[in-house]
Amino acid sequence: MSGLPVLRAFEAIRGRVATALGGERLAVIDLGSSRISCLIAEIRHSLLDRTLLDRDVDIYAALRVVAASSAPSAGMKDGTIHDPKATAEALRTVLRDIHDQSGITPDRALFALSGGSPRTLQTASTSAIPVRVVDDATVGRIMASCRQEIALRIRRPLHIEPLDFTRNGVPEIADPRGHGARTLGMRFGIVTVERQALERLGAVASGAGLAVSGVACAAAASGFAALTQDELDLGATVVDIGAHVTGVASFYRNRLRSVHSISIGGAAMTRDLGEAMGISFDDAEAMKVGPHAAGFSADPSILGGAGPGEPTMVLTGVIRPRVEEIFELVRAVLPTGEPRPVILTGGGSRMQGMVQAGTAVLDRRVRLGRAIRTRGASQSVLGPEFAAVNGLLAHAIRLQCEPWAEAMSTVRDGEQAFGGLRQWLRENW
Ligand SMILES: Nc1ncnc2c1ncn2[C@@H]1O[C@H](COP(=O)(O)OP(=O)(O)OP(=O)(O)O)[C@@H](O)[C@H]1O
Ligand SMILES: [Mg+2]
Repeated sequence: MSGLPVLRAFEAIRGRVATALGGERLAVIDLGSSRISCLIAEIRHSLLDRTLLDRDVDIYAALRVVAASSAPSAGMKDGTIHDPKATAEALRTVLRDIHDQSGITPDRALFALSGGSPRTLQTASTSAIPVRVVDDATVGRIMASCRQEIALRIRRPLHIEPLDFTRNGVPEIADPRGHGARTLGMRFGIVTVERQALERLGAVASGAGLAVSGVACAAAASGFAALTQDELDLGATVVDIGAHVTGVASFYRNRLRSVHSISIGGAAMTRDLGEAMGISFDDAEAMKVGPHAAGFSADPSILGGAGPGEPTMVLTGVIRPRVEEIFELVRAVLPTGEPRPVILTGGGSRMQGMVQAGTAVLDRRVRLGRAIRTRGASQSVLGPEFAAVNGLLAHAIRLQCEPWAEAMSTVRDGEQAFGGLRQWLRENW
């Protein structure tokens, strides 16, 4: 059988994060097109226990932020690195600041990336051998038999999510254990990104003296940070509006279901504003981010009303068509079926009027998101533009506390055969 053994790839992803969580601290870094942000969190090992999930203990308290820094990024375009040297230099600046604050110099980190053209696919495996009672070992065997064709020369898996089961032909079973089964199937969701984007990230990390403990899609990470547990369970979509990329990540039954990316973000709004007003990109950016501080005379026909309670440039001004374009592209990739809420994150969500514009175009409940799970950090690093970096902390904890870890650990056959794959994944991420 050819194809990527899904379980082994998942174990490789979990294994690297587990190694990072084995130390005293975890470093997480969002390499964005406009900003690089880094958090260092202390690890409380006693709370990193999967069995606590059933006991209503807040597992996210296992990580407590002790240092944070953010600085303009460099050498990035459309969420991917095009000048690794420049990006590594910008990252070193952030790491120096972390060291000055805390004396800490991380040697490894978990990264978020908005680019790399994420794509989602699903794969399933089915066993027709009847079992009297499905247990962890049965689930482990099904997981081990699951493979997916991925053009590994071109793309690599970043997120692997065990989604659900099919028992005796009945789909969407959350947990088949304890029941008999004539046939049993299991479904995985896999998010892949372009290999080249990861290789460049690896080059940047090593240029800044860091090993890569894992990589997450920025939009997925933002969802882990900003969605409430109800939203994760009942279904919701995070729309992370960055400078050059708008990432769309959908969740349901506490699992990441899909990631899409759209190559427009806040920078396009800045360009529109600059062109309309005949000013430079930097001046337009200053005006957009702080309209009153910049000292421009606000022309209502361009900006929309500027006073309290008046329509903003998102709703009536020059930026409106661009915002509508972004939300229309988002609408095209939202999951079909009942309209689930949308949570806006990323710096672009800070534009006044985004929630109203999103509600009008997407025709569903839209709210602003911020990081809600992080401990120890000041409010200034919990805003929407920091959702992705905060979400990496939650992502690490989720991987560590994976509910099917027990089932996975029952699979040891063929370990040797997969040793090569592990080594290869280790070298190539
Ligand atoms: N207060 C604000 N009002 C309006 N726009 C803002 C505000 N703050 C930031 N932005 C916009 O948010 C964008 C940057 O967002 P963010 O920091 O999330 O991007 P990034 O993660 O660096 O980039 P990407 O995700 O595209 O790789 C910029 O276009 C910036 O103009
Ligand atoms: Mg971003």
